[in-house]
Amino acid sequence: MKNTRFFLLLGCVLLASTVMQAQKFQGLALTPPMGWNSWNKFACNVSEELIRETADAMVATGMKDAGYEYIVIDDCWQVSRDSLGFIVADPKRFPSGIKALADYVHAKGLKFGIYSCAGNKTCGGRPAGRGHEYQDALSYAKWGVDYLKYDWCDTENLNAIGAYTTMRDALFAAGRPIVFSLCEWGNNKPELWAKEVGHLWRTTGDIYNCFDCVQNNGTWKAFGVMQIMDKQDGLRKNAGPGHWNDPDMLEVGNGMSLNESRAHFSIWCMMAAPLIAGNDLRSMNAETLTVLSNKEVIAIDQDSLGVQGFRHAVKDSVETWLKPLKNGEWAVCLLNRSTTPRVVALDWKTFSVIDSLSNRTLNTSAKEVYKLRDLWLKKNVGDTRKPFKATIPARDVLCLKLFK
Ligand code: GLA
Repeated sequence: MKNTRFFLLLGCVLLASTVMQAQKFQGLALTPPMGWNSWNKFACNVSEELIRETADAMVATGMKDAGYEYIVIDDCWQVSRDSLGFIVADPKRFPSGIKALADYVHAKGLKFGIYSCAGNKTCGGRPAGRGHEYQDALSYAKWGVDYLKYDWCDTENLNAIGAYTTMRDALFAAGRPIVFSLCEWGNNKPELWAKEVGHLWRTTGDIYNCFDCVQNNGTWKAFGVMQIMDKQDGLRKNAGPGHWNDPDMLEVGNGMSLNESRAHFSIWCMMAAPLIAGNDLRSMNAETLTVLSNKEVIAIDQDSLGVQGFRHAVKDSVETWLKPLKNGEWAVCLLNRSTTPRVVALDWKTFSVIDSLSNRTLNTSAKEVYKLRDLWLKKNVGDTRKPFKATIPARDVLCLKLFK
């Protein structure tokens, strides 16, 4: 009897310790996170007014209704550590403190995110997390943070898996569910290990506000939309609900043309990318809002099947991207990456694709008839019994949903 009780107790202890074992928070980011981040437009010029006004604009413009949720302050909100080592927000720019700001964002029905870095200093030279992981996680939990972007500057010879796992464990120990966004630029193949550590991981260096260019900054390069897109090849097998490839934040509304913005946004949705707007939501024009809040295109990104799409074919600078969706539906986006218009003709009779990753088949030949919906025109455009012909302007897309 005594023995049985002992083993029962031991069993309970073992079970409890397994259950409590540090891990990432489960059940978060089951679809790619959507929100806004200050960096692309404002860099270090952040303040509590900006964050509050952005939260207001997120609601007022309908972006919240379209699914955007997280308001994330990127670098430069922090200035020092106090005598006990706790991180201190810039008192000039954030006089009410971070907790009050998080409360404000929450009161709008939105979620609140913040930024730090695994090294000694952030990329903007501010105090970062190394050696303070558990302490910072406590502050974040106390303030009501829902999302942490964790960068990779000034990390010397730190081991990336170790550094990010330490922060994951610290967040878990602090007890508040926080989406953990890894930002080590794809340097250490995060697609192979970050699934156990965080909910999304950057796959490349920083995006640059251009459609097709590389910006050389001397010691580092930033990449245009096409360059970032091309770097995603081979990564889709590692993404899924709760763990996404992150090709960086959106540049929609920061100066690209409408066509380019539409193409950028559509391809990010085809890649099941996190949709983190990076423009000034307070003053965006109608065109920008139309792109960012196209619910039908967003639905492709947010599809609950959670399968990242893929480039199926390339011909004469026109790429055919496919993404399997729930209920046997498919998204098909034709991307014209050239600087002149292209006439495309899709003969559905010869269209047959097997995606071995998702085990889905798109077979429009013979008896399988799908209806077609143009997701930018927002109207039905026939079905797969007839070949489909269209002209795609330079640097633009044509996105169709195939449904029964
Ligand atoms: C790195 C990140 C960017 C941004 C800046 C902030 O470059 O990749 O997304 O967070 O740091 O300094």
